[in-house]
Amino acid sequence: MEKIIIKGGKELRGSVRVSGSKNAALPVIAAALLADGACRLKNVPKVKDIQTMCQMVEVLGGGTRREPDILVIDPCGFSCRPAPYDLVCTMRASVYVLAPLLSRFRKARVALPGGCAIGLRPLDQHLKGLEALGARVKMEHGYIEAEAAQVLHGAEIYLDVASVGATVNILLAAVLAKGRTVLDHAACEPEIVNLAGFLSAMGAKIQGAGTNRILIEGVKSLAPVVFQIIPDRIEAGTLAIAAAITRGDVLIEEFPRQHLSALEQKLSAAGIELQSESGSAVRVKCKSEELLPIDIVTLPYPGFPTDVQAQWMALMCRAAGRSVITESIWENRFMHVAELKRMGANIRIEGNNALVRGGGTLSGAQVMASDLRASAALILAGLVAEGQTSISRIYHLDRGYEKLEDKLAALGAEIRREPE
Ligand code: EPZ
Repeated sequence: MEKIIIKGGKELRGSVRVSGSKNAALPVIAAALLADGACRLKNVPKVKDIQTMCQMVEVLGGGTRREPDILVIDPCGFSCRPAPYDLVCTMRASVYVLAPLLSRFRKARVALPGGCAIGLRPLDQHLKGLEALGARVKMEHGYIEAEAAQVLHGAEIYLDVASVGATVNILLAAVLAKGRTVLDHAACEPEIVNLAGFLSAMGAKIQGAGTNRILIEGVKSLAPVVFQIIPDRIEAGTLAIAAAITRGDVLIEEFPRQHLSALEQKLSAAGIELQSESGSAVRVKCKSEELLPIDIVTLPYPGFPTDVQAQWMALMCRAAGRSVITESIWENRFMHVAELKRMGANIRIEGNNALVRGGGTLSGAQVMASDLRASAALILAGLVAEGQTSISRIYHLDRGYEKLEDKLAALGAEIRREPE
């Protein structure tokens, strides 16, 4: 195991490039199992969750290989095998293989993931959607067993919650189903639009991705394509907050500004300016003397992203005054609070609200990462803490950030990785 050591107090300066989006690439890799040949994916980040998804593809008989800057997914040997617990429990997005298995073989056996550090994470909406498309689903021995007597058929489906994962599984099942599917209260996240773009490039007929109503007309087959994954809006947001918290001046390349308007408006209210430069580069710097306390509520897209909530909390620890952070997506996503408090933060939790009294100094301490975004928040706090911060269980960070510490070091942070 490894840990990250940071010596706080450096202003970040220079330029940095955002990697491809993990959460956009994961469903695209699963979708590539539906193609009639090998797909070539560009801008796929080299992070642990992508490796896990590639392992899952291989366990199911498919092929994966990395060429410079390209990830090839070859569904040639894809066959109806169980998706095992050891992979599903390390990464819940492995359940994205449920729909491709069902669609290609009319049968799927996928381990049921348990809860995780951020909440219970039920799958009822995924399963309800697949049942509407003609699958019979039961749980047995810790596995989801899904079977369809005939080819899946189109259906009208209403999601009780606009779940990203359920929207992915239903899209993947519906594109090769017979007839038309109407998916209401679908997730609108940019990662869904990216997935629909990939499927459409392969020949799928999809309208309305990015809105709450998606229409899918089933087609007979999907052709292999070359496809570019969008930049990671959560990494971009994390880097913007790194610039803001250190009162730095950073040019962020490949910044998906159109996907981050909620964060941008909150940053602006807090006294941080985002300026577009050439291409998709954005310069982040302070426009006021001090950081102002600003409340946020996490919401489905285009609301403030839950995946930036922990990082925002680190920023608010430095703002001059009180702010309220409300987590409305996950029931248990305040695990970073206890660790931030070890660094001297003044935060009180009341239900799903965190009341932050900012402005005090943070002091370097030994802390522990509990999940991916919590690790990012602790790194951000470490960048401005007095003295040394040591963050253990950093494998959480490696699941979703590509070389974050190298990127921060190149901007002037004193940060390094060491064995535990
Ligand atoms: C995706 O998770 C992301 N993961 C998460 O990012 C992100 O936090 C989340 O969307 C919300 O934006 C990936 O893209 C791989 P959901 P997902 O289904 O799809 C409830 C990160 O840090 N729900 O949209 O699992 C659920 O309990 C990760 O990169 C049901 O009730 O999230 C939650 O309250 C963490 N029934 C809400 O919906 C269901 O069947 C949103 O979950 C499914 C979900």
